[in-house]
Amino acid sequence: MKTQIDDRKKESYKIFDSIAPTYDSLNHILSLGIDILWRKKLTKKLPTNKKLFVVDLATGTGDVALHLSQERNIQKIQGFDLSRNMIEIGRQKVKNKKVEHKVSLDIGDGMNIPLKDNSVDVITLSFGIRNFSNPQKGLDEIYRVLKPGGRALIMEFSIPKNYLIKKAYFFYFRKVLPWIGNKVSGHKDAYTYLNKTVESFPYGKKFLGLMNKAGLEKLEANPLTFGISTLYVGNKKAPTGNLSHD
Ligand SMILES: C[S@@+](CC[C@H](N)C(=O)[O-])C[C@H]1O[C@@H](n2cnc3c(N)ncnc32)[C@H](O)[C@@H]1O
Repeated sequence: MKTQIDDRKKESYKIFDSIAPTYDSLNHILSLGIDILWRKKLTKKLPTNKKLFVVDLATGTGDVALHLSQERNIQKIQGFDLSRNMIEIGRQKVKNKKVEHKVSLDIGDGMNIPLKDNSVDVITLSFGIRNFSNPQKGLDEIYRVLKPGGRALIMEFSIPKNYLIKKAYFFYFRKVLPWIGNKVSGHKDAYTYLNKTVESFPYGKKFLGLMNKAGLEKLEANPLTFGISTLYVGNKKAPTGNLSHD
């Protein structure tokens, strides 16, 4: 089972290519709008330095990039994703919001980031890394492109601890979400696959272990909404140790 999911992850962008037209509306419906609150939490963890260059990996239709475009201390946001159709929808949203001067969305692999070493102030990655066939490679790449003192903000689904919430969560993720998602998107099993990637993903301490292995430090795992998702924070060591800006 795990191997099957891992194999599909290698080409998960193809799934996103086919569900792109309904992705945004399903996202807001299926998350009951909570995803908007989660994006706000992510913004609160941004460093306060001026003129930040932010890269949003697995940007999809660019919701995080667009949200960040409202932040004054961000100079430029570059989004990368492997799905052309998701990027196309995102580009239209960037145009509609009139933020083309600040946000660019392009095809790019989160496990092979098309940027130089030590060139990025902040990396954001929301609900993408569980789709990477090799999350450790993604984290190693994040470490490589971050400037010393730079920060990684990674949001991903996790499993709640509370027994009753966990029961309700599994019912929702295993039954309700795949049923609605597959029906509305018209894809035979995209949302069944998405649920499986959530349940097989290393979350909490295990994920912090991967971040630590990549070289990131000052690690945090902040559970959001009963632990349905978690916001992870990690920093690349600053040369003088003074580049953390909360
Ligand atoms: C669940 S969507 C998340 C989109 C967006 N970040 C959001 O929060 O709505 C996951 C995205 O990851 C992208 N993806 C999967 N593997 C990738 C990779 N190796 N590099 C870049 N993007 C990838 C998919 O194409 C898809 O658009």
